[in-house]
Amino acid sequence: MWGTLVRTMVKAGMVKPSSLVKPLSVTRITGRYLAHQEGLPKLPVPPLKQTCDCYLAVLDPVVGPEELNHTRQLVEEFQKPGGVGERLQNGLERRASKTENWLSDWWLQTAYLDYRMPVVIHSSPGVILPRLEFSDRQGQMRYAAKLIAGVLDFKTMIDNETLPVEYLGGKPLCMSQYYQVLSSCRIPGTKRDTVVNYALDKRPPTHITVVHNFQFFVLDVYNSDGTPLTVDQIYMQLEKIWNSSLQSNKEPIGILTSNHRNSWGKAYNNLIKDKTNKESVRAIQKSIFTVCLDAPMPRASDDMYRTRAAVQMLHGGGSRWNSGNRWFDKTLQFIIGEDGTCGLIYEHAPAEGPPIVSLIDHVVEYTKKSEMVRTPMIPLRMPLKLRFNITPEIKRDIEEAKQNMNIMVRELDVKVSVFSHFGKDFPKSQKMSPDAFIQMALQLAYYRMYKRCCSTYESASLRMFRLGRTDTIRSTSIDSARFVKAMDDPTRQNTEKVSLLEKAVKAHRMYTDMAIRGQAIDRHFLGLKLQAIEELSALPEIFLDTSYAVALHYNLSTSQVPAKTNCVMCFGPVVPDGYGVCYNPMETHINFAVSAFNSCQDTNAARLAQALEYALVDMKTLLEQTPKAKL
Ligand code: COA
Repeated sequence: MWGTLVRTMVKAGMVKPSSLVKPLSVTRITGRYLAHQEGLPKLPVPPLKQTCDCYLAVLDPVVGPEELNHTRQLVEEFQKPGGVGERLQNGLERRASKTENWLSDWWLQTAYLDYRMPVVIHSSPGVILPRLEFSDRQGQMRYAAKLIAGVLDFKTMIDNETLPVEYLGGKPLCMSQYYQVLSSCRIPGTKRDTVVNYALDKRPPTHITVVHNFQFFVLDVYNSDGTPLTVDQIYMQLEKIWNSSLQSNKEPIGILTSNHRNSWGKAYNNLIKDKTNKESVRAIQKSIFTVCLDAPMPRASDDMYRTRAAVQMLHGGGSRWNSGNRWFDKTLQFIIGEDGTCGLIYEHAPAEGPPIVSLIDHVVEYTKKSEMVRTPMIPLRMPLKLRFNITPEIKRDIEEAKQNMNIMVRELDVKVSVFSHFGKDFPKSQKMSPDAFIQMALQLAYYRMYKRCCSTYESASLRMFRLGRTDTIRSTSIDSARFVKAMDDPTRQNTEKVSLLEKAVKAHRMYTDMAIRGQAIDRHFLGLKLQAIEELSALPEIFLDTSYAVALHYNLSTSQVPAKTNCVMCFGPVVPDGYGVCYNPMETHINFAVSAFNSCQDTNAARLAQALEYALVDMKTLLEQTPKAKL
């Protein structure tokens, strides 16, 4: 049983074989969790014709008629009997029959570990928690202590396998991502990265890392009898850390992790040549998670508070502020500022947003109920300060990383807003899917700004399948295009507009259902392309076609990450002239985080956020002013 799990994880590229050591408590891994996992279906390979037909349909609103005609011919050629499409499809089906999940290791490699842009902004999402009611160091430390205890409480559920199985559309979901987020870290390479997970080690880690004033500390969070430290004990340890890291003139070694992956890979090899540095880096990588006790950031008005918090979570504000107070390769970093700002940043390779946010929901609840109870104080060891020997070469690498980070900071345009006119409640009252309603509002907002439709990515969970990650819901459809074009057309009747909106919402919900059932087109096309590469055959024409490039140029990269907590996730755009849009639809309001790049003259995060608000309000007004009976 253990062997199966290990093989699955290695095959899925989820863990580095070197870190696999049979754990002491094998039952912990082989019990309920594995039984659940083994009961999940395998990710299917969709039929070739279905994907090809759907591809042509999704291109319709985003490419011109001539391009579409050309692509139609290429698709015909690709799927003709005995042709290249059929050969690749057969190869993919063979791969599916031999693997746990035909996609997961390819996806991990291509989407994350081979990706060479910095993880900051380009890959790692941030989460902004509601502002907390403290404004001094004491409050910061008390909250940090509670938060750490809350994460450890969640970890107990993972360790004991008492984490409730999640469901989507009535189907149980793959829970493996929960086992990847603690005690793990990304390791840079000069050409490709890896991820290590120490939770499966012979001696799993019992420490976290705490960083303050750019100085890293090892904080043991378990007593020798295996019980977690109490909130009170953690608080005392944090005080010690704080007091021994008062100087703020230290080299921001952590900023190295924000650099371009090839540069960081090179700098990493140089950094760990020194034994002390290597041990310090290993301690961070091995830790259960990291807590960043941040220095105060520039004050922001209440209006701008969330936006400023997003900046702090996504990149730390630049080398002058908190960007060096991070280890961006660490899977989970909780960030706590002195002014009540709180949230996290996570390295995306091991998991999607939903498991992270469900951990947050648990921790936030925990921090509300846990009180500081004075426990008998057994003196605890001083947390270990991690030392780094900075050679002139390392210093140069730090300077380069600082400069690049500051460029990225200037580049990022973010706007976090709370849409307070309504939440999920309104679309539900109209018998519409709230997610589809919001996506159609985004389509309308974009169309109003640019007078055209663009390729849109929305993540869909594939966790109904073993080791499933995501596929793409293509929100721009023939139906969405018809609706957005009609909405502001004075020659159209409201009844017609409502009917087009309803059709567009239904089409989106249908695509969503198709995607979460493993029948969407994007990962299938990726699989066919990678299969061609693996077979060392020439790349089929359809993948070299302009339409394919347009289809993958996501001017809107979006995701719903729902949470019980009133928080919002945020991430950067995926193309230079695009937007990143993440939202948390609550019952009576919706939290949005919109991002763009300042170097692009055509994009503006605040403008899109505003257009989105108008679009949502106008759609509601349209529905309310057009009583159903009149339809
Ligand atoms: N009438 C009334 N209510 C409806 C409805 C309708 N026609 N359609 C849906 N609803 C209800 C649902 O029952 C649900 O109710 P709840 O609030 O009680 O749970 C609610 O509206 C939300 O449904 P919907 O808006 O359709 O979205 P969803 O919850 O099905 O989520 C996705 C859609 C695409 C977000 C989801 O399937 C998914 O894949 N999530 C993962 C995304 C991800 O991984 N993101 C992270 C990337 S880092």
